[in-house]
Amino acid sequence: MIHELKVLSEGDIPALTEGMQASLEDVPEGFGLAYDPGQAQQHMLADGFGRRHTYLRISLVEQCNLRCRYCMPDEDLAWTPDEQLLTDDEIIRLARLFVEAGVTKIRLTGGEPLLRQGVEQIAEAIGVLPGLETLALTTNGLLLPKKFERLQQAGVNLLNLSLDTLRADRFEQITQRRGFELVMRAIDEAMDRGFDPVKVNCVVMRGVNEDELVDFVAWTEHQPIEVRFIEFMPFDGNRWDDTRLVSFQEMRDRIEAVYPLERRTDGPNETSKTYQVPGFRGRVGFITSMTEHFCEGCNRLRLTADGNLKVCLFGRVEVSLRDAIRAGATDETLREVIGAAVGRKHARHAGMYALAEMENRPMITIGG
Ligand code: 5AD
Ligand code: SF4
Repeated sequence: MIHELKVLSEGDIPALTEGMQASLEDVPEGFGLAYDPGQAQQHMLADGFGRRHTYLRISLVEQCNLRCRYCMPDEDLAWTPDEQLLTDDEIIRLARLFVEAGVTKIRLTGGEPLLRQGVEQIAEAIGVLPGLETLALTTNGLLLPKKFERLQQAGVNLLNLSLDTLRADRFEQITQRRGFELVMRAIDEAMDRGFDPVKVNCVVMRGVNEDELVDFVAWTEHQPIEVRFIEFMPFDGNRWDDTRLVSFQEMRDRIEAVYPLERRTDGPNETSKTYQVPGFRGRVGFITSMTEHFCEGCNRLRLTADGNLKVCLFGRVEVSLRDAIRAGATDETLREVIGAAVGRKHARHAGMYALAEMENRPMITIGG
């Protein structure tokens, strides 16, 4: 399918970001930030609440070589045709614009980002952008060993591997594919290569893996691993319901019945609450998106594989940077489109029940 090109003029920018209206009425009770639209106008990466967005997550592909049920809908997704995905050059151009404006951390994600042909070249081009401090990668690890050397050379300096179980048979049930040994091997190699910590993302679901919380914590005794337990979030087609959600509080109670957990300090925009069992080499984190949102400290933006800027993981409104680029937008126009979208970011998401009802993309097409 040929993408329809349209000429973009200054007047089109409001239309591109239409519907993204943050306003005073949006500010929920107890929200720690004040709304002042003037703040958003001062900087491309600032919103009306004074949040500065210095972290960009770029999804490189929608597909994955696993089929985790909590991430992918059961029915086959209609994948976006290749020509509607951002090209390497478009990704690199956008990454440069964001880094020039002050983004210091970029994460390559997916789908499974290592399925993208040329992921190494993209990482290499992004890795040399002046001002970028962290080049992170979220992967399921299956293809990592093949690409590890070049990715590390390119500057990838932070790794999150997804692993929801330490049992091979269960891995197959959760992901609907084989590969447990490969993932474990990738995690070992990451430690050998000096990643410290190696972050392991574990989505906790009742009736699926909540009985392994303690085993995961035990794993951190001698290894430089940070296990990050993630509250199960609702996305289109993933059969979320609140009985399957294991809350942060419950996770902690279950773990503390066996191991004491000491709080560690987190970075300023950290979404994870970090703990450690005294004397253990690794750490344990909790990502509490459902029961304790962390929207006040949010510094993230997302670029989907098809080129939409998503200012909130749970927001439906997106603006197509791909369309702007293919309509011939200059860097200046792109900065304006981005600035307008970021400027109108809402205060926070609407709460877990509203999220469960809301239309959103499946997680696989947003990028964890
Ligand atoms: N809830 C929480 N996290 C999810 N991820 C995908 N789907 C969900 C969900 N429903 C995250 C996991 C995974 C990454 C690729 O995306 O962290 O490791
Ligand atoms: Fe693939 Fe990760 Fe989604 Fe599983 S959670 S299907 S590994 S993108």
